[in-house]
Formats: sequence, C-alpha cells, structure tokens
Amino acid sequence: MFSGRFGSEPGGLNSHWEAKLRLEAAGTPLFDITPSNPTLAGIDYPPGIVSLLARPEALRYHPNPRGAPDARRAIAAHAYSRGRAGDPDRLILCASTSEAYSWLFKLLCEPGEEILVPSPSYPLFDDLADLEHVTLVRYALGHRPGNRAYWEPDFAALRNLISTRSKALILVNPNNPTGHVLDQAAIDGYLALAEAYGLALIVDEVFSEYILQAETRCAPVRSQGPLVFTLNGFSKMLGLPQMKLAWIQVEGRPDRVESALDHLEFIADAFLSVNTPVQAAAADLLAQREPIQASIRARLHANLKASWEWTVGSRTQLYSANHPEAGWYLLLHVSTPLEAEVFAQDLLERFHVHTHPGTLFGLGKEWPLVASLLTPETVFREGLRRIALWTEERTDA
Ligand SMILES: Cc1ncc(COP(=O)(O)O)c(C=O)c1O
Repeated sequence: MFSGRFGSEPGGLNSHWEAKLRLEAAGTPLFDITPSNPTLAGIDYPPGIVSLLARPEALRYHPNPRGAPDARRAIAAHAYSRGRAGDPDRLILCASTSEAYSWLFKLLCEPGEEILVPSPSYPLFDDLADLEHVTLVRYALGHRPGNRAYWEPDFAALRNLISTRSKALILVNPNNPTGHVLDQAAIDGYLALAEAYGLALIVDEVFSEYILQAETRCAPVRSQGPLVFTLNGFSKMLGLPQMKLAWIQVEGRPDRVESALDHLEFIADAFLSVNTPVQAAAADLLAQREPIQASIRARLHANLKASWEWTVGSRTQLYSANHPEAGWYLLLHVSTPLEAEVFAQDLLERFHVHTHPGTLFGLGKEWPLVASLLTPETVFREGLRRIALWTEERTDA
C-alpha cells in the first residue's frame, strides 16, 4: 500500500528503546545523558521571548516563497558572526535544516543518485535520503594518531568514492558528534573536489556558534565556483527548535547561484512551510541570541569540565572523553568487550544510564558511547559516575 521510501519499518522500536520504555513504565529513575532539546534541558531563555511573536503583521498572510524579505535581511545582517555576513537575496528560508536537506536532495538528485556524507555524523541523514530516494555514500573521517579531536577526510579515498551518480558532498562543520571544526586546508580540499567533479557542497553549520576552545575558528565555506549551500537555523543558533525557522544560503558562480535560487524558490513555493509569526519576529528573536547562547555555553562548559574530572579519575584509562572543539556532543571512550549497542543497553538496564551507542553515528569501537553536553549538570555527572562504576565492576570481577 505504501511507497518504498521507508528504509526502516516505521513504528518499530529497537530493544534499547523498548528497555527504556519498560524502565520508565516501572517508575525507575533514569539518568538520561542524551538530551539535545534545549527547551527541555533547563536552559534559561529571556523572559518575554514568546510575546515577540504576537505582532499585528502576523495576522496577514503575504507569503514570499523565498521567505519574507525583512526576515531574510535580519538573518543576513545579524545571524552570523565571525565574518559570515550574508546576502538576503541569496537566502531561502525553510522550516528546519532537516527540511533544507530534503529540498536540496530534490533540487540536486534524480532517484538513485548519490550524495556523499561524512562518517561519523548525524544519523537522520539516512531517513532524509530514503524519503527522497537518494543513495548515501559514506566517506570516512579519520583522526590523526595522538590527536583524537582531529577528524578530517582522506581526500584520496574520498575521490575514489565519487561516481557518475554523485551529485553533492555534505560537510557537517562543526561535526556532530565529533565536535571537530574543519581547517582551511580541508575546506579548500572539498572545494577543489567539488570543482573537479561538478559536485555541490552542502555545508551544515548548525553548531558553528558553539565553539568550545579559545583557539578554534569555524571558517565559512566561500565559493565563486562550485555551488555551496550553507545551512543554519534557529533550532541551534537560538536554541529554539520549535520556532521552525532555518535557511539555505547559496554561493558559487553567479549564474549557477541564480538558477539554484530559482529552482529552490519553486520547491519552497510548493510548500510555503515557514510560518508568518516567526518571520515577522525574526529580527527581534535574533537580538536575543547572546543571552540564550551564553546560557547554553555555560551548560556545555560545565559538563566538559565534569568530563575532564571524570577522565582524570579513571584507573588506567578505562574510560575517557574527547575534547570537542565545538558543538553539543561528547564522545565517550570506555574499555569494553561488548558491542556498542549491547553495552549501551546493559548500562541502561543495570545502571539506569541512557546514552547513545556510538554506532548510531557511525563511530568505531574506540567510542562506544555518545553523550549530550546539554544534559542538566547533576544528571550528567551522575551518568558519568555510573559509567565508571560499570567499568570498575568488570575490573573487580
Ligand atoms: C548536524 C545537524 N544538522 C541538522 C540538524 C537538524 O536541525 P533542525 O532542527 O533545524 O532540523 C541537527 C539536529 O540535531 C543536527 O545535529
């Protein structure tokens, strides 16, 4: 009855998730160190932020498929820091960056054509690609020995994955979940590949405002040649995923940019999915960026500190955490003979700690678990303490 766009059967639960529901139903207190929704994680928002949506303009519907000009101007002028100022005429607004991906897949790919995605990275790509009948080809991000924070592609290996069906390369910069930020040499490498093989670049910058190390800079991917689609939105930039406002900025050779914008406008016009109240309030919402980001950053840094203390407390390096340069995620290394999924489920069932198995993001054995630095601090510390107990139980046995 239904189309073949569903890679996995909707409604199915994996055993980890079933175990979580079972424990919750039994009233067992869980230490969930995965939350990525800032609105439910005790982040402080400026009072009155919701009242910004109640404006008389919000009652009139004058849809512009590219997004309301005032909202685009506000985003171009205020949304970016560190030299990222945008051009309102090169922006297309959409409801979320997930929607931006689906529009770009429609724009660029015939069914069965390929998009190259980094591994490890964000797990939702599979579903987004399945829904558009697009095939994902994963390219590995390797890390330099002795430098666990440094994850970059091997361009020779990446080149070998490009075929006549390849249409675009995705860069997640900063990466979710490794927290790695691309350096200029890597950005230039991607641009050169895109130019040589006629590929577009899709650059996901949703975590670019959350730099965690003083010396790290997240450089924009600028292009006068290959098409570059840069994605961002209120979901992470303002910690307001429910406001449903995101955007695609288009760069590259001017004639390609104009044509890409016209095609994206056609797609956007078919849905007109961005709501009027959020567009009318976009400039005022963006003006609240500093206090919201400060509250989120304080949480990220507090949990990073907790992770360093935890690592120092490890006997013979049984467990440790990475040092992300940016973003909301933390990789956990735990010495375990178990497969990541089995380990994560055992931690949940016996120690009541909910984590993501690293395999969900395409991580190898070195990083069996992924945690969220947005977790309320006391829960985060207790979750880490319990993971340490798991390893001590094994070594003492
Ligand atoms: C790297 C990355 N890109 C995109 C998204 C989707 O964000 P949105 O809420 O704008 O769809 C997420 C969400 O976690 C993400 O981690």
